[in-house]
Amino acid sequence: MSTGTTSGAGSETSAEPGPGVLPAIPAPGGGETEVPRYAPQWLRLREPADAQARAHELLDPLRIRLANRPRHGTELIVHDLGCGTGSMGRWLAPLLDGAQHWVLHDRDPYLLHFASVGAPRAAADGSPVTVTTQRGDIGRLTPDALTGASLVTASALLDVLTAEEIDTLARACVGAGCPALLTLSVVGRVELAPEHPLDREIGEAFNAHQRRGDLLGPDAVSAACEAFDRLGASVRVHPSPWRLGAGQRELTQEWLRGWVGAAVEQRPDLAPRAETYLRDRLAACAAGDLRVTVHHSDVLVLPRPTGGA
Ligand SMILES: C[S@@+](CC[C@H](N)C(=O)[O-])C[C@H]1O[C@@H](n2cnc3c(N)ncnc32)[C@H](O)[C@@H]1O
Repeated sequence: MSTGTTSGAGSETSAEPGPGVLPAIPAPGGGETEVPRYAPQWLRLREPADAQARAHELLDPLRIRLANRPRHGTELIVHDLGCGTGSMGRWLAPLLDGAQHWVLHDRDPYLLHFASVGAPRAAADGSPVTVTTQRGDIGRLTPDALTGASLVTASALLDVLTAEEIDTLARACVGAGCPALLTLSVVGRVELAPEHPLDREIGEAFNAHQRRGDLLGPDAVSAACEAFDRLGASVRVHPSPWRLGAGQRELTQEWLRGWVGAAVEQRPDLAPRAETYLRDRLAACAAGDLRVTVHHSDVLVLPRPTGGA
């Protein structure tokens, strides 16, 4: 999940862009376009909650598919798209047997550096895990880029893509005939306990912010399911909610600042009420009196094998 830039929800809201988003950098390939950057601190902060939330239920069908691949017995080649600092690999590589080579893709070279340094070293059975990094834009991914891939992964990525980028990703995966595990996409539902009358309005403004421009935000999972389905792949979806309580105060507070900040950026008229709301929510969180569920979905895609994967 990403949060957008943050402004004007008052003193509790950072003057910096919200958690996850830093000032933009030029897009790979140069030109005028700039793209948002994600703070490595935010990606590290969320990593344990992500690991807890991920849908383990999708792992067995994935393992069966990998065990039956035509080149079973050779090294697994895994492409992690939008890898950030590499949290997906640190979670998944030690859960899969056999030697693995991970190709870590991102458009941000700064994050690729952290991903490379913090890469996992060993598979579940102790086999070696190696990594290389590749800077590039997922919107330009071709089936050729995935030639020989055994698996494509992504985490907290789909909801920051456009429909066009998701179609490109789906065509590349299905063209390469390899499965895809696409995890932790927000689905637009958040529950806070205890409830507050402003929860719903903030949530709706946040969702609208996620959908700004051509971005899919909370519609990404259905768009991905439809894109893969159109291409004849089988798709399974499983919930993967963050369940945040007193043990995750720092993450919850960062998330709150970004969630409210993005909502106010979308609806500046919310600012006066949002300021009080955020202050009270942060205080409740600090006191250990706030629980937050952020709903996500994980998606496992099994295309028809092409023979190479
Ligand atoms: C919310 S972060 C998630 C990072 C990581 N997968 C994780 O779970 O911690 C989204 C990542 O996708 C990358 N990203 C977003 N859109 C991209 C695109 N079109 N091409 C390449 N990378 C992209 C960002 O740079 C960022 O690292």
